[in-house]
Amino acid sequence: MKGIFDLEIVNEITNELGRDPSGIIGILQRVQETYHYLPGEIFPYLASQLGVSEARIYSVATFYENFSLEPKGRFVLKVCDGTACHVRKSIPILERLRRELGLSETKATTDDLGFTVETVSCLGACGLAPALTVNDQVHPAMTPDKAALLLGELRARLAAEAGDATEAGDAGATPPDPPAAAAMTTALDAGKGDKQ
Ligand code: FES
Repeated sequence: MKGIFDLEIVNEITNELGRDPSGIIGILQRVQETYHYLPGEIFPYLASQLGVSEARIYSVATFYENFSLEPKGRFVLKVCDGTACHVRKSIPILERLRRELGLSETKATTDDLGFTVETVSCLGACGLAPALTVNDQVHPAMTPDKAALLLGELRARLAAEAGDATEAGDAGATPPDPPAAAAMTTALDAGKGDKQ
């Protein structure tokens, strides 16, 4: 699978947030919200926009744990395995999700980039244990069966989103060509390895 990076998106973000190098973190957060990770392919262009070195972008991207340089799924599920959640049986929840999605400790993201399953040490919601988050939304008092039901809902959302995209294509919607200066696209080889 290939990923295409439209640098017009970078322009939109920097137009809105400004091009002050002190705003790198906020800009990278917006990029990650868009792509669900930080594609290194856009770093040269972003560096030129901010007037900083590419190495500086990388250093910020790798310093903060919340940033990921590896592709993640449309839905990122974080299963808490902190003490409160662990004693309330968070591991069977994690195992059920991984089994349903064909994932493992070494493969955290599905090949279609639909789902990523990770663990975290504490979500700060110990009173709701065992808890997990889906794209940072907390789901309390989970069980393996509840997690499987939740997964079904998320799969339905993915299918609906795919259907919407197909309908847009059937309607003949053709994306406009981006401006030449921003039209550089890069392709990302699939399966570069999933980061835990
Ligand atoms: S240990 Fe799971 S939310 Fe704190």
